[in-house]
Amino acid sequence: MHPNIERVLIDEVTLKKRIAEMAEEISRDYAGQELLVIGLLKGAAYFMVELTQHLTIPTQIDFLKVSSYGSGTSTTGKVDIQFDTSRNLSGKNVLLVDDVVDSGLTLKAVRELFAGRNCRSIRIAAMLDKKERRLVKMLPDYYGFEIPDEFVVGFGLDYAEDYRTLPYIGVLKRSVYQK
Ligand code: IMP
Ligand code: MG
Repeated sequence: MHPNIERVLIDEVTLKKRIAEMAEEISRDYAGQELLVIGLLKGAAYFMVELTQHLTIPTQIDFLKVSSYGSGTSTTGKVDIQFDTSRNLSGKNVLLVDDVVDSGLTLKAVRELFAGRNCRSIRIAAMLDKKERRLVKMLPDYYGFEIPDEFVVGFGLDYAEDYRTLPYIGVLKRSVYQK
């Protein structure tokens, strides 16, 4: 285990098993249809790859980058598009994918933005859900695990751009960000 990790919250096997289950559920829900999965960079990358590899429906992928926390551990409440999707979304079944829903501000803003793009449908899938941290109404259509109010890293999630490559979800030691 990485020395800055307090404890492993979700190990790799458990994580991947659950993501495969989510893919099964999503494949069932969109049976007979096509899907465009849009991942929020960079945090959603690992989850998105794992999820889409298990989808059994015809799927395309795209990416979106919005501003997030910078190097802190709580939201600024402001969401800017830094890098937009490359395609026309008209008539598409869009599944927005993110690593974690925390305050809910990011996904709420992105969903509102996409509401004006003539998609056939818009749903949200999150790997993790910190329900007790919610500041706005945001219920992901699919989520992998509900987690407590702790700052976690790994499997795409970072602290100041570090720890994204860890193959598990771990709780970061407080001493790392409380200096
Ligand atoms: P929200 O807008 O507050 O819901 O924040 C969502 C974004 O905040 C996520 O996509 C993450 O990038 C980041 N975030 C929230 N909680 C954590 C965490 O525990 N670890 C790392 N990043 C987090
Ligand atoms: Mg993020």
